[in-house]
Amino acid sequence: MGTPLTIAIDGPSGSGKSTVARAVATRLGLGYLDTGAMYRALTWSCLERGVDLTDRAAVAQAARDLPLAMGTDPAAPSVTVDGTDVGAAIRTTAVSSAVSAVATNLEVRPVLQRLQRQLIEDVAARAGGVVAEGRDITTVVAPDARVRVLLTASEEARLRRRSAELHGSADAAAVEATRDQVVRRDRDDSTVSAFTRAADGVALVDTSELGLEESIAAVLDVVAQRTAAS
Ligand code: DC
Repeated sequence: MGTPLTIAIDGPSGSGKSTVARAVATRLGLGYLDTGAMYRALTWSCLERGVDLTDRAAVAQAARDLPLAMGTDPAAPSVTVDGTDVGAAIRTTAVSSAVSAVATNLEVRPVLQRLQRQLIEDVAARAGGVVAEGRDITTVVAPDARVRVLLTASEEARLRRRSAELHGSADAAAVEATRDQVVRRDRDDSTVSAFTRAADGVALVDTSELGLEESIAAVLDVVAQRTAAS
């Protein structure tokens, strides 16, 4: 087996990042790491334990103490905190609304980034490679990854997709209900991670006009180009 292949994928919510990253990992037979799920698991744990999310030091301590296990099989990714499967609990509105407060805590980020680097290394060594997705993977967590991709999409396309996901509908009322959550969260998150434009050497894939299969194919094309060149 050659050097493990690390594929880093960043992008805002609704860009198709998670679905595309999982599909790419499955097709290439690699591991998969959802770093957003780690911020969500920490948020869930703080809410459960009544940790004040505005107390930066307390949340950073909770991050250091978090008994987190990430399942990295792209066919069945899982998130476990202290033996409890929190896969569904971390996707509730309560967690989605609170997670930016945790993700923008600058004492928390280095703690989770360190853990993410370790996981990427372990999973890559075990599975021959890994697809890691988030907001700062191409820039901070794995800037040396062989393949780095920023998935983007227009605000309207992202809202439509999120709305269909969250409300089972992309009609005008559902899109409006989604707008605050998605737009506000991305605005807050972009104050700490530069995921709204591609850094040097990062391939930009705009999925606004692409369906899922086309988005997967576009990323697989980037992978083929980058691995042929290296
Ligand atoms: O991708 P997601 O919606 O599950 O991400 C959850 C939150 O974590 C979101 O507010 C963005 C943030 N995040 C981050 O700041 N850095 C990452 N590498 C991944 C996610």
